[in-house]
Amino acid sequence: RAFDVAVLGATGLVGQHMIEILEQRNFPINKLYPLASSRSAGGTVSFKGKDVTVLDAETFDWSSVQLGFFSAGGSVSAKYAPIAADAGCVVIDNTSHYRYEADIPLVVPEVNAHALADFRNRNIIANPNCSTIQMMVALKPIQDAVGIARINVSTYQSVSGAGKSAMDELAHQTAALLSGKEVQTKAFSRQIAFNVIPQIDVFMDNDYTKEEMKMVWETQKIMGDDSILVNATAVRVPVFFGHGEAIHLETRSPIDAQEVKNLLANAPGVKLLAEREDFPTQVGNASGHDEVFVGRIRNDISHPNGINMWVVSDNVRKGAATNSIQIAEVLIRDYM
Ligand code: A2P
Repeated sequence: RAFDVAVLGATGLVGQHMIEILEQRNFPINKLYPLASSRSAGGTVSFKGKDVTVLDAETFDWSSVQLGFFSAGGSVSAKYAPIAADAGCVVIDNTSHYRYEADIPLVVPEVNAHALADFRNRNIIANPNCSTIQMMVALKPIQDAVGIARINVSTYQSVSGAGKSAMDELAHQTAALLSGKEVQTKAFSRQIAFNVIPQIDVFMDNDYTKEEMKMVWETQKIMGDDSILVNATAVRVPVFFGHGEAIHLETRSPIDAQEVKNLLANAPGVKLLAEREDFPTQVGNASGHDEVFVGRIRNDISHPNGINMWVVSDNVRKGAATNSIQIAEVLIRDYM
């Protein structure tokens, strides 16, 4: 059986990867409908060697598709997801708009595919935040084995997480600075070239950023465990693709670094780099790949139940497009 599929935000960074990965994974598509705003409607995107015309989301008939991948921003999802869902289209939403609603499944297939059983509640499934997804894939085997009491995490997040304009800004600033020119800053609150910025998304009343709080809320929802404490600092770095995370764990009962390596060696979605000097980085490992790469696993010398690790993954692929498509693959295998 093949499905009629809409990709909303088809001209954007995640949308374009979505279309490419649907093709790479040979997702069973009958007809693909790339959707964007009236700005890009009438243009084309390439799918399976053919040019497919981009349609205006405003006038799209949602009853013509069974599945919709949404990545055009929170307000666009807020506008179209209920309309699509009412028309019978199952929406897989990559924005944060629906993630925290109790009756909406928030899913990382390797971790909580069972939550998809509730997808008919609203016909909407939420794809988690990129930084949360890779952390969940790496930590689920440890949570299952010994329990996790607390996670301290600092992220090193690439500019692609902020869309195409942010990638252009890093490229332009880098070129300008190397030519001795002035730079302009628009996509970020500070210069991003040759700099790191400890602010992603808006600040909240508690002085954390929203990106940091997403990691708190989403970890508890995905793990189904409100007792896991999460303390995050999210930092933007001048890297194009791939987020890094320095994760410091306190487990409920002690576990040795070697046992963690044993657990992660065969964990779904994980590529373990177990040797000391074989640690993963964004360029060379994660970028362009779908696995979550884990290295630098070691015992925390400052805490009896402490484990440290370094986790890297491609935020546009596993952190967004690939995870959404994997959700759809489980849906059509088990439910549709
Ligand atoms: P458009 O090309 O028409 O602006 P990115 O995250 O890379 O900036 O991409 C954002 C994506 O979301 C683009 O495909 C963009 O389409 C789409 N988009 C933005 N606003 C709307 C809207 N109001 N309706 C439909 N699509 C939108």
